[in-house]
Amino acid sequence: MRSLVDPAADAIWDAVVITSTAAGLDERRPETDDDWNALERSAVVLAESGNLLQIDDRPIAAAGSVSELPGVDLEPSDIAARVAAEPRAWARSARELRDAGGVTLEAVRARDVDALLASGDRLYVACENCHSRFWYPDDATPSVGSVESASPSR
Ligand code: HEC
Repeated sequence: MRSLVDPAADAIWDAVVITSTAAGLDERRPETDDDWNALERSAVVLAESGNLLQIDDRPIAAAGSVSELPGVDLEPSDIAARVAAEPRAWARSARELRDAGGVTLEAVRARDVDALLASGDRLYVACENCHSRFWYPDDATPSVGSVESASPSR
């Protein structure tokens, strides 16, 4: 998550930014070939991450890893137990990340900014659907607003 998924998603979410300034709207969007090529790499990373997450019996959070906010996100052993209990839901969530990455890739290849924005929304839903089921404790599922601390770009 931290080394592949999160940086790639940030690159997609930060690609189009419209800011309102005193001088009017300030728009940032991908323009050069380099901009689009970088986005293409990120979209591929996201789609392939969805495939990696479907590898069976792979530890999901490293055994010794400590949750950043104890009690707010689950410990590695709890995550493993949830995935073992709901393997199909896990696989579905992983496939949704792969598909959202694929739609993002299509938008990037078509150099279609509107489609890129829409695919960024679909991506965000894919992240949060899996996190709310497999990462956050039942009684502490944060609202989308408080999830922002885990995904600083949103
Ligand atoms: C198939 C399920 C699944 C999907 C899809 C998913 N995640 Fe995660 N994510 C997890 C689980 C489980 C954890 C907690 C274990 C861990 O830290 O890796 C996690 C943790 C994280 C973390 C914290 C990592 C750390 O080391 O503290 C970040 C950041 C993150 N996800 C970002 C994202 C983003 C952004 C997306 C979507 C583009 C996404 N995730 C999609 C399952 C998923």
